[in-house]
Amino acid sequence: MTTVQAVHYTRYGDLGEVRIGSLPAPSASPGRVLVDVRAVSVNPVDVKTVAGELAPYGESEFPALVGADFAGVVKQADPGASFSVGDEVFGSLPPFVGSFAETISADPATLAAKPTVLSWAEAASIPTAGVTALTALATIDVKAGDVVIVNGVSGGVGAFAAALLIQRGAVVIGTLSPSKITGAAGFTEVGHGPGVSDRVREALQGLPAAALVDTHGGTEVGGLVTLLADRTNAVSVAHGLVGDAAGGTNHTTAPSSAALAELAALAAAGAIRVPLSETRPIREVKAAYEDLLAGRVRGKLVLDARAW
Ligand SMILES: NC(=O)c1ccc[n+]([C@@H]2O[C@H](COP(=O)([O-])OP(=O)(O)OC[C@H]3O[C@@H](n4cnc5c(N)ncnc54)[C@H](OP(=O)(O)O)[C@@H]3O)[C@@H](O)[C@H]2O)c1
Repeated sequence: MTTVQAVHYTRYGDLGEVRIGSLPAPSASPGRVLVDVRAVSVNPVDVKTVAGELAPYGESEFPALVGADFAGVVKQADPGASFSVGDEVFGSLPPFVGSFAETISADPATLAAKPTVLSWAEAASIPTAGVTALTALATIDVKAGDVVIVNGVSGGVGAFAAALLIQRGAVVIGTLSPSKITGAAGFTEVGHGPGVSDRVREALQGLPAAALVDTHGGTEVGGLVTLLADRTNAVSVAHGLVGDAAGGTNHTTAPSSAALAELAALAAAGAIRVPLSETRPIREVKAAYEDLLAGRVRGKLVLDARAW
């Protein structure tokens, strides 16, 4: 039996359930492609999946692979598939299916071609965070010159949202941990936490903001919504628009090869910068998730999927 190295778990639980080891290699199936994985990126949803919190959307089949986002090379393609052997691709698998293995089986409908100017790490950074940001922005109205608040601008989704908003000519006020403020982000940085609405109001200099993109939820979102000219022009990917803040959109993303291709084209043209923070060996996967959950990552953390 051919095997591949894989990051996997055999029952729901915390990161202590995550193992690196050999699993049977996937086999080709109709309409699908086998991908030799070069890089993967970590997302908070991966950990929620290991914990069994995604059960309403799908159940993991044990042993289950960890992760979702990847970039790699097609090594085997069904004749009916839209990609060929040797094509460089990137995309995501449903998190309860998982992508952190040397070889994975993927549905071409959730892939896009990797532009040659993007590195494996840049491409692997895009799928979940980039597509979520792009599709969330489609639910709000933003014009060039508008001021938009991005709550959680230092995270994967927030960093992509800020890059896309700036590319569209909007002015961004982003909240993040005070320790991460650099003054060189290309937008106004405001420390999150208690009193954040007052600090953002000060940054707005008395004018209302046009829109809000929330990636964190929590108790402060209600205060941020009061800073908008139109309280319904708000979107949360953390389903944080509740109570007095309800009226905007609590957004859930879905895989989209069209969205992947749009983001890849923008990144390849230099119109947006992929917010890649660093790449580590995949054998450090648990430490990577611990750092992500502890807020020690800015932007996207990628794992080299050939460094087992
Ligand atoms: N609905 C969907 O379809 C969908 C899709 C993708 C992700 N998500 C969810 O969206 C959330 C963000 O995802 P991500 O990949 O961007 O995660 P991430 O990279 O871990 O970023 C989390 C962000 O939240 C910020 N944050 C922490 N405490 C905060 C506070 N009190 N107020 C405001 N911001 C705070 C962090 O800032 P600091 O690090 O600077 O503290 C960071 O910017 C996660 O819960 C994820 O599961 C949902």
